[in-house]
Amino acid sequence: AAYTIVNRETCIACGACGVVAPDIFNHDEEGLSFSKLDNNQGITEVDEELIEDLEDACEECPSDSIKISDQPFHGNPE
Ligand code: F3S
Repeated sequence: AAYTIVNRETCIACGACGVVAPDIFNHDEEGLSFSKLDNNQGITEVDEELIEDLEDACEECPSDSIKISDQPFHGNPE
């Protein structure tokens, strides 16, 4: 299982994640990203078919703000 969350403290609103993985990430009016799977709580398992997009987004993020874990985040990206 894989879970994801955006660390919105470190996101610099570059927008790459939403381009690379539009089914997972969206951004607010300030350009800060969030996981739209579960309103950035990191508690919803990422679909198998989206894992590749997720990994690409994680690699593309210049501030290393896309977090991935095999455990749910429960809203805390740290
Ligand atoms: Fe932010 Fe990284 Fe996405 S800087 S907008 S989380 S690619």
